[in-house]
Formats: sequence, C-alpha cells, structure tokens
Amino acid sequence: MAKTRVALIYGGVSGERGVSRLTAASVMRAMDAEKYEAVPVAIAPDGTWVPGETTPEALEAGGVEREIEPGATTVRVGFGRDRGLFLISDGEVTNLNVDVAFPLVHGPFGEDGTMQGLLEMAGIPYVGDGVFASAAGMDKAYMKVVLEGAGIPVAPYVVAEPHRWNRDSEGVLQEATKLQLPLYVKPARAGSSIGISRVADFADLRRAVEEARKVDPKVLIEEGIKGREIECAVLQGRGDASARASVLGEIVLGVQWYDFSTKYLATEGFRMAVPADVPAETAADMRDMAVRVFEAFGCEGMTRVDFFLADDGRIFVNEHNTVPGFTAVSMYPVLWEHTGLPYSALIDELIELALAKPAGVH
Ligand SMILES: Nc1ncnc2c1ncn2[C@@H]1O[C@H](COP(=O)(O)OP(=O)(O)O)[C@@H](O)[C@H]1O
Ligand SMILES: [Mg+2]
Repeated sequence: MAKTRVALIYGGVSGERGVSRLTAASVMRAMDAEKYEAVPVAIAPDGTWVPGETTPEALEAGGVEREIEPGATTVRVGFGRDRGLFLISDGEVTNLNVDVAFPLVHGPFGEDGTMQGLLEMAGIPYVGDGVFASAAGMDKAYMKVVLEGAGIPVAPYVVAEPHRWNRDSEGVLQEATKLQLPLYVKPARAGSSIGISRVADFADLRRAVEEARKVDPKVLIEEGIKGREIECAVLQGRGDASARASVLGEIVLGVQWYDFSTKYLATEGFRMAVPADVPAETAADMRDMAVRVFEAFGCEGMTRVDFFLADDGRIFVNEHNTVPGFTAVSMYPVLWEHTGLPYSALIDELIELALAKPAGVH
C-alpha cells in the first residue's frame, strides 16, 4: 500500500520559527514510517517556501538559532485545477503529491488562520484547527468575546483599540482603573509572552501599553489572577464523538509570571508537573471546561487550553493555543502521553482526523 504523504510545514516568519524547525524534527522522528512519508517544506524568514531538510538530524543542526536559507528551488502552492504543492526547480514543475499537510508554524502566518485559508484554497487537507478557530485563537481580544459568549469565565479586561488609543488614551487609562491591580498588559496578537508586562501601579500603565503596542497596536489590559497555571490538551473526537480532554498539567513557576525569558532562556524558572496536583472535582470541572472551549471556537484537531486556578478556587480560562508547543517534551504531547496516547500515536491520530475531514465548507 502506498504511504500517505504528509507535508511537514515548518519555519515561518514569526519569532518562533527556530522552535518550529525543531518541532518538525521531533514529529519526523516519531511518525510511523510504515504508514507515512514525510515531505518537509520549510518557510524561510523572508516568506519563501523551499524544500525542507529530510532527516531529523539535519532539521536539528544549528539549534534554535539557525535560519532557513531561501534557495533557488522553491515550493509553490497551486489552486483550482493545479491544486496542491509543487516543487519548482530550474523551470521544472513537479507535483509533490501531498495527501495531507501538518502545519507546525507558530504565530502570525502559521497559527492565525492565514496558513489554514491557503491550504483550504489549495484543496489540501491539514492537521489542526480551521480558519475561524485559528484566527479567533490568535487575537486575545476576540478570544475573550467568544469565551464570554460561551459563558466561560475570563479575567476582567479592557481593550486598547488602536484608533481609540490614538484618539483618547486618557479615556482608556481611566477605564482601566476599574480593574484590580496588578494588571497584565498584552499585545492582542502575539505569543511567547512577547511584549507583555505586569503592572503593579497605574502610573506605569501608559508605558506598558506603549511597550505592547510595539508588537501589536491592539492591546489588552487585564486584571491579574493570583493562582496557579494549569493546562489541558484537547483532541477532536473520532467521527461524531465529542472532543477528548487530557489529564491536567501545571506550569510550576519559580518566578513571578511566565515571561519570555522563563519560557525560552532561563528555563530552570519553571517545571511541568503532570498530572497536576488538583482536587479531583476541580480537575473534572477544568477538563469539562476545556472541551467547552474547544467547542466554542469550533476547533478541529487540537488545542491546548490554559487556565488560571485562583487561590480562592475559581477557574478562569486565560487562553487557548491552536498550534501548541509540539516537540516530544512539550506540554501538549506530554499530557497525552500521561493520558495513554504516546507521541507517535497522537501524531497518527491527528493525521487520521485531518484525512477524515474534507477541505472547504463542511
Ligand atoms: N490575567 C493574568 N493574571 C496572572 N498572570 C497572567 C495574566 N495574564 C498573563 N499572565 C502571565 O503572563 C503569561 C503570558 O500570558 P499569556 O496571556 O498566556 O500570553 P502568551 O500568548 O504570550 O502565552 C501567563 O502564562 C502568565 O504567567
Ligand atoms: Mg500563554
């Protein structure tokens, strides 16, 4: 039987492109070689699509810092009658005959629905969330709207819309005084804690908003929740079955909050505790809520739902991540490992789910 050809799409233009390449190595190593054939496709920092490295070792070479070089041979996406992925080399066009794509690109042009729209238009089935769930999951302001609409508790917030801020920043700062200190100020469409600051005094709020605006002109000002950070991995159900929630994991922090340097540089500042030590009843509530988040956004494939468990016992959803960290040691796969679905089986499951869903409106 012919193997299923899986385009592993990695790299991209966001700051997380190095991590994405290492993720591709991890997935390639774990994919069932009897069943699947990896077709690596790399996106260079300038946005050029090129053939990717073909072994996990080559993908990992140079560590997280190495950049993908855009070369003369490129990969193009075809639409309509010529749909699919094609290799263009010396004027020769070769159909890569891809059966399914596995986008492993984080951040803008990966996780925000644009990649998903491109694949829809090219008629290529793909792993993970569709256009809407991806777009709504990338924008922390719209994420709140969907969560609130579904009756899911979120931390109180104020949105500093770009035009409103330019017109009336005083009004925005004034409105934010209804929130309890400390505040977390965040670019609406970013990740990896980039541009986020914790504000303990209203006098510092303007500067924090200006900092966040360097990353995205749309900014969220949010009330800080004192408590623990708990995560749940959600996986689409087979057929018409409802989505599946993993055991919970905790990000145990040795620092005040989970900032960029703790995530990626001084990583001894946190550890993952799986399963999280929370009372059974609370855990059951959180797992139910995680599935409700998946459903509220119309997620497909996977998402990782991140909670705050407040010291007073209340549960809040902070965010969900449609392209969560996905190396073998990342939270999402580790949570499934502890739930009885090892990394290779998880990858298999995600590809099967993608192949079962037609591209386009369904
Ligand atoms: N409302 C909040 N209360 C307490 N801590 C917060 C709050 N919002 C963000 N944080 C801290 O900042 C980190 C990053 O914020 P988050 O909204 O998850 O952004 P990102 O998408 O960059 O991960 C969180 O993991 C948490 O440590
Ligand atoms: Mg987060």
